[in-house]
Amino acid sequence: MIDIIPSARFVTASEVAGKTVVVIDVLRATSVMVTAFINGVESIIPVLTPEEAFAIKAQSSGPVILGGEREALPIPGFDYGNSPLSYTAENVKGKTLVMTTSNGTRAIKAAEPAKELFIGSFLNADALVQHLSTKEEICFVCAGTNGHYSLDDALCAGYIIDGLRCIQKDMELSDFALATATLYHDNKNNLNALTALGKHYCTLISKGYENDLNYCFSTGVTEILPHWQEGRIVK
Ligand code: MLT
Repeated sequence: MIDIIPSARFVTASEVAGKTVVVIDVLRATSVMVTAFINGVESIIPVLTPEEAFAIKAQSSGPVILGGEREALPIPGFDYGNSPLSYTAENVKGKTLVMTTSNGTRAIKAAEPAKELFIGSFLNADALVQHLSTKEEICFVCAGTNGHYSLDDALCAGYIIDGLRCIQKDMELSDFALATATLYHDNKNNLNALTALGKHYCTLISKGYENDLNYCFSTGVTEILPHWQEGRIVK
């Protein structure tokens, strides 16, 4: 069975326990995480508050960088904001990234009771299709924006489910998963126009992040499947 949780605020332990969970925050937290792994970050520790991030950095002996956002803007005192284009090899290779964002890291923390937890984005969506095709109970957690459904996350979940249905035609879907796959399928030749109507997409445009948007909707960029392991995300 494939199901979907439409925003971080609806994630409960009982909804995710025993399942393979994929957390998606296309704009932009999970796109940042996948990019950081492409460029050699050692591991990522998601936290809920900037204070927790500062405390981890203060206690750590190894190389630690802080990244994330509030209201899409960099957090004062952090090394990087939430633009995936900042997470270059020069900036991240061999380091631990401690990250806090408004929705993405909150969704990941809430989904911790899952049987296994993967980080999803358009960048690694094709690799996820292949990996998930043997799984039985799958739940996509769309991080959303400030507690609300966000079109970019839903279209990414729809893309992956559409791909899974090509491999396993009889895969059982919840009504929400079916609606999401249909939304993607019926708009796949017109995705740019549809995504550009999304509220968070428009917010990021208004804050000058057009380059992030073009990048975050690229597919087939990497085979990397970041996943949760003992309190952090690893490759
Ligand atoms: C989030 O986690 O809320 C987002 O990644 C926000 C953003 O686009 O910066």
